[in-house]
Amino acid sequence: MFSFRVAAPLTAVLCLIALSLIATSGVGQQAQQNMLWSLLGINLVAAVTTVFLARMTINRWAESLRDYIITGKNAKNLPKEAIGVTREIRHRLRQLERERQRLCLSGPMWSSEALFRFVREHLPSEQIISISYRQPYAHKKAPDGGLTWMTPASGLVTAIEPIMKACGGTWIAVAMSEADRLAADQNGALMVPPDKPTYRLKRLWLSEEETAGFYAGFANEGLWPLATMAYVKPRFRASDWKTYQEVNQRFADAIVAEAKSDAPIVFIQDYHFALLPKLVRERLPNALIIFFWHIPWPNAEAFGILPWREEILRGLLPADIIGFHTQAPCNNFLDCVDTHIEALIDREHNSVRHGNDFSMVRPYPISIAWPDLEALSVPDIPACRKEVTESLGIAPDAKIILGVERLDYVKGIPERLRSFGIFLEKNPLWRGKVCFVQIASPSRSSIPAYADADKEVEEVVAEINKKYQTSRWKPIHLLKQNYAARELYRFYRSGDVFIVSSLSDGMNLVAKEFISARDDDRGSLILSEFTGSSRELVEAIIVNPHDEEKVADCFLRALTMSDEEQTARMKSMRERVKMNNVFAWAAQILGDAKQLHDRRQLNELLEKTGRDEKRAA
Ligand code: G6P
Repeated sequence: MFSFRVAAPLTAVLCLIALSLIATSGVGQQAQQNMLWSLLGINLVAAVTTVFLARMTINRWAESLRDYIITGKNAKNLPKEAIGVTREIRHRLRQLERERQRLCLSGPMWSSEALFRFVREHLPSEQIISISYRQPYAHKKAPDGGLTWMTPASGLVTAIEPIMKACGGTWIAVAMSEADRLAADQNGALMVPPDKPTYRLKRLWLSEEETAGFYAGFANEGLWPLATMAYVKPRFRASDWKTYQEVNQRFADAIVAEAKSDAPIVFIQDYHFALLPKLVRERLPNALIIFFWHIPWPNAEAFGILPWREEILRGLLPADIIGFHTQAPCNNFLDCVDTHIEALIDREHNSVRHGNDFSMVRPYPISIAWPDLEALSVPDIPACRKEVTESLGIAPDAKIILGVERLDYVKGIPERLRSFGIFLEKNPLWRGKVCFVQIASPSRSSIPAYADADKEVEEVVAEINKKYQTSRWKPIHLLKQNYAARELYRFYRSGDVFIVSSLSDGMNLVAKEFISARDDDRGSLILSEFTGSSRELVEAIIVNPHDEEKVADCFLRALTMSDEEQTARMKSMRERVKMNNVFAWAAQILGDAKQLHDRRQLNELLEKTGRDEKRAA
């Protein structure tokens, strides 16, 4: 750098001095000419040397500049002015990267491919291990003695399956039968989907006692009614709690066994595994742990009745992210932490510091993968309607009100059926012209509250049908079975009105599935205000399912809604669900997890630097 800066002006000055000396020296003309030629020669050599030195210097600068822009280090060869400019370039690059990421996260539409790329490019580990109780595929024996498979009725499975298909990895879940064992290898694992394998399903078998204590007992007779607050009293048995802890431990062992590095992404689903974040953190301290609670979270007072409330909170808090569908359960969760354990809560940033654990508590409204109806081989709307009406013996021109869910007391099935009865009572002209088709997939039937709900549904259906049924018209068709996606979409496309009247629901994905099925922009949606989806699908007819008279009036409103109004509402909801699909949901959570991971690494670096400095001092 010195050579370049000094050589050029020095040569010029020397030339000028030499020229003036020659002119004033008084020597002969020949001698002056010789001196001039020599001077010219010297100049030529000096010029070539200067160019050479300049090139070397520029090359060195360029190298230092590149290093500095990329790493921010090694600026000692650079002149001050260049460091300033380079800092600006670095700053701008960082800004651009942030903008790119923001764009990425709020971009036009998330797809499975975009999510795959996002995970590969941005996440610290490519291995995602997802954990849930319910497995995405269940095998069973076919009549011919071979094996066949089905997808269980679970909103959670509907949402997580497309993400695993997109990103690969391992899904650990509970096996249901001996047929599941026959379909798996000796480690209980197999590649799925069975017809197009893309990720690994690792099955764990629970004993009858484990299923009774962990699944039916603590998870579904304890935590489920506690969290959903649908006025079914939770049962807390010490023996169930013990089994819950043991089964969580078994899953932690399985996660550690599956992990290919010490820092996998562990994506834990739902209330069955509230202790897993702690158990995993103890064994894989560098893992990126995301916990998603798919159901509501009770307020601090209600949660306070749980005898092991502190253990549950301490079990969850080692997760990097604790996600809920909406802001209300996040607030309830933070209140519970505030009320029941010692922790530092930052309400502004929705985060909790508890000992060495730091977690973000955020709302992430879950969604569905926008369906490819052609790939699902779903017929057009008139064909779907024809299939459904013919199979159920419904008149071709009758209107259809449809409900689709698991047979669960939180879904408000008897309430809506009673409302339908009131509607028929109040509107005699509609008798014979409208049918209620209720799909209720059997669920958790070993639990008394579910058996009671089943009985109640049967009784209400029998009562209304007995009162109004004619030889040519049956008011309610109750279908108590599980349907594959293709069949469900056939139903969605044949309904005139779709009702979701849950008494409590984290999100409710069937409402979104109904919307995604209606490429004719028709159909009215009646939606309970106690679902997470009512926050998003504001164009639906929003109801309080406990107000049975009002719901009855809403049936009339929905059945008589003009085509234009249906289209306007449906179009708007379709756009939103299509855009806010499940890939966008996953990208948002994984993006936040990545930010947290980067911040943690930076903190570790700063701590280490601090330690080194202290040592040096
Ligand atoms: C809810 C829960 C899921 C569960 C699903 C079906 O959506 O959030 O975790 O899988 O119900 O319930 P099941 O007990 O049959 O798995």
